[in-house]
Amino acid sequence: MYVPPQLDHILIQAEQIRKRIEVLGDTITRDYTSSEAPLTCVVVLRGSILFAADLLRQLALPVRLVTIRASSYGAGTSSSGQVTVTPSEPVDFSHSPVLLIDDILDTGRTLQHLRQWAVEHHADSVKSCILLDKPSRREIPVKADYVGFTVPDAFVIGYGLDLNEEFRNLPYIGVLKPEFIP
Ligand code: XMP
Repeated sequence: MYVPPQLDHILIQAEQIRKRIEVLGDTITRDYTSSEAPLTCVVVLRGSILFAADLLRQLALPVRLVTIRASSYGAGTSSSGQVTVTPSEPVDFSHSPVLLIDDILDTGRTLQHLRQWAVEHHADSVKSCILLDKPSRREIPVKADYVGFTVPDAFVIGYGLDLNEEFRNLPYIGVLKPEFIP
């Protein structure tokens, strides 16, 4: 298994992620199984790519896929406070249920902004599924409807999460050595 030298330790193993996503997929499938409209999954690029790819395959439901960019972070590790949403194509949810899929819930700014954005684009209902929750960093009191793992206040990489676009390919979630955190 590839372990980059900048990694301090592995926090969540690939197998734990796989098992947790199976449970999340079953729960979401059960919750939306009586929905008349297809579930529109909004995948927040780029950090959620690996998570969404695995989660979507566990949904035994009619699903639509929308990708967006949401940037609140620059090249460093601290939030700028401003959230900008850029969809890959023009979006109108046409009164269907929306599930926001994101990698990590940190200050809460991104999720709060995305919920408002989905409502403004005519979502019938908006729920969120987040791989990692860092509740100790919350500045805005938002909660995700589905959470993979609760993590401590450390900068995490892997399984889609990056530092300056590196490490997204790791199949596990790891913590960087302090000297590599800018
Ligand atoms: P907010 O603060 O808006 O942040 O809840 C959500 C976004 O912040 C990024 N983020 C991280 N990215 N490792 C990362 O690679 C981290 O430990 C981390 N903490 C926050 C991430 O882009 C997320 O969508």
